[in-house]
Amino acid sequence: MDLGLADRTYLVTGGSSGVGLATVRALLDEGAHVATCGRDADRLKRIGHHERLFTATCDVRDADAVRAFVTAAAGAFGGRLDGLVNNAGQSRMKRLDDTTWDDWRDELDLKFAGVLHPLRASRDLLRASDAASVVNVNAVLAKQPEPRLITTSAARAGILNLSKSLAGELAADGIRVNSVCLGLIDTGQWTRRHAAADSGMPYEDWQAELAADRGVALGRLGRAEEVAYAILALLAPRASYITGTSIDVCGGVGRGIL
Ligand SMILES: NC(=O)c1ccc[n+]([C@@H]2O[C@H](COP(=O)([O-])OP(=O)(O)OC[C@H]3O[C@@H](n4cnc5c(N)ncnc54)[C@H](OP(=O)(O)O)[C@@H]3O)[C@@H](O)[C@H]2O)c1
Repeated sequence: MDLGLADRTYLVTGGSSGVGLATVRALLDEGAHVATCGRDADRLKRIGHHERLFTATCDVRDADAVRAFVTAAAGAFGGRLDGLVNNAGQSRMKRLDDTTWDDWRDELDLKFAGVLHPLRASRDLLRASDAASVVNVNAVLAKQPEPRLITTSAARAGILNLSKSLAGELAADGIRVNSVCLGLIDTGQWTRRHAAADSGMPYEDWQAELAADRGVALGRLGRAEEVAYAILALLAPRASYITGTSIDVCGGVGRGIL
């Protein structure tokens, strides 16, 4: 099935690694124009050159920088924008007794800025599209908190709640808003944790043990490309009646019914 993404323009935050990078590549493969950002210029350069790709350094916590990024991206692509993927971010491994107030403030700042700054900067452009779609990359933690990720779980729940509000608020502008809720996806987040754990275990064995420990029904971590597939499905103009919902991409780690 043709997803209808060719020649349309999409903005993906945090596209230099993991889920963001897989989404950028999948969109380019579909013939779309893509703009992406990250904080580290060298990591962005490693994506490689593509005539339909625009990259710029930008920290999503900085509203002015995000606005400049969106303006530059729109300029590069003829002032058109059909979709936004709010993906940039990372989680914070902390339990209640390890957290300071700065941890709470920083976590809430990253998660809420990561959605609201790109959305505010691109809303007028999205409104002009005939098939505007926003996808917020979230985590199953939003629905089933984990004590070892206490700040991230709470922030994720807030973002899932916000996504529902945004779907209602932006429907009149013709902008759909949905979420993908990830389980454990094999990206830089986990390779960094494997290195930090310094367990001496090969990465593959460490991953398998992790999947078993967390109760992943499919018995493995997910691949970034498997998440990108769900994101593209929600971006596609054919998903025109889907808004205010979330898709779990988690290999069955989610224990809830909803
Ligand atoms: N992997 C998982 O198991 C998992 C599970 C649940 C949710 N998630 C969420 O899924 C999203 C993607 O994660 P991932 O696993 O693909 O992580 P990743 O491989 O570490 O990639 C994160 C991307 O976001 C960028 N980024 C991080 N902070 C940023 C900021 N403040 N401003 C702009 N760009 C920023 C990074 O580039 P720079 O570092 O150069 O800025 C990088 O391009 C994140 O929001 C993450 O929390 C992941």
